[in-house]
Amino acid sequence: MLFLVTAGPTREPIDPVRYLSNRSSGKMGYAIAAAALARGHGVVLVTGPVAIPPPPGARVVSVETAREMHAAVAAEIAAADVAVFCAAVSDYRPAEAAAGKIKKDGAELVLRLVENPDILGDTRSVFGYGGVLVGFAAETGSMERHALDKLRRKGCDLIVANDVSRSDIAFDQDDNEVLVLDRAGGRAWLPRAPKAEIARALVARIETVAPG
Ligand code: PMT
Repeated sequence: MLFLVTAGPTREPIDPVRYLSNRSSGKMGYAIAAAALARGHGVVLVTGPVAIPPPPGARVVSVETAREMHAAVAAEIAAADVAVFCAAVSDYRPAEAAAGKIKKDGAELVLRLVENPDILGDTRSVFGYGGVLVGFAAETGSMERHALDKLRRKGCDLIVANDVSRSDIAFDQDDNEVLVLDRAGGRAWLPRAPKAEIARALVARIETVAPG
């Protein structure tokens, strides 16, 4: 099967040298790409800027902004059998990026933000129901309730929820601990483990859902 995996953060420019972003390291998404490759699948890795090397064998599409990631996913999704959205996409971007470096002038600086496209949310309608759509949910409270809401709203087959208020897992950590929910009401808890191990379990779970 061909896996499309999104990973890493997006960067939303404020001016030529500053941006809005988040602490995603890409480790979770890259581990999923590596686990899929190890199982003999093809992988297209659509990645925001990270400091780790991609797994050998993945076809890498590098992007910076949410809108670039949206366009890259739209271009690649038709060929994919499985799409895993692990990227931490900025929900907002500055309404406009200043052409020159913003100078300090002693006054308050107000940034106006506008919403970015919901890449995962826009995918179900173009992916069709043959493909397996896997979302992530980064939550800081009421994790299961919010993850279930995202599973339904975004038309996912599976959603992988993690508690991003914890400092020992998830963002920029080597370990994760996740709750996997599916459309049929199934739930599986994967206790804290290295991301490579969590990724192997997720790919195995996806293989049971995927047709053929
Ligand atoms: O990269 P690491 O340091 O290893 O950290 C891993 C992680 C914490 C980033 C990862 O495990 C994770 O939780 N990824 C999802 C982060 C996120 O943006 O979650 P969310 O609950 O805000 O978004 C829900 C889903 O919609 C996600 O699949 C996200 O990729 C997707 N999304 C969100 C916003 C948007 N504009 N477009 C999207 O596609």
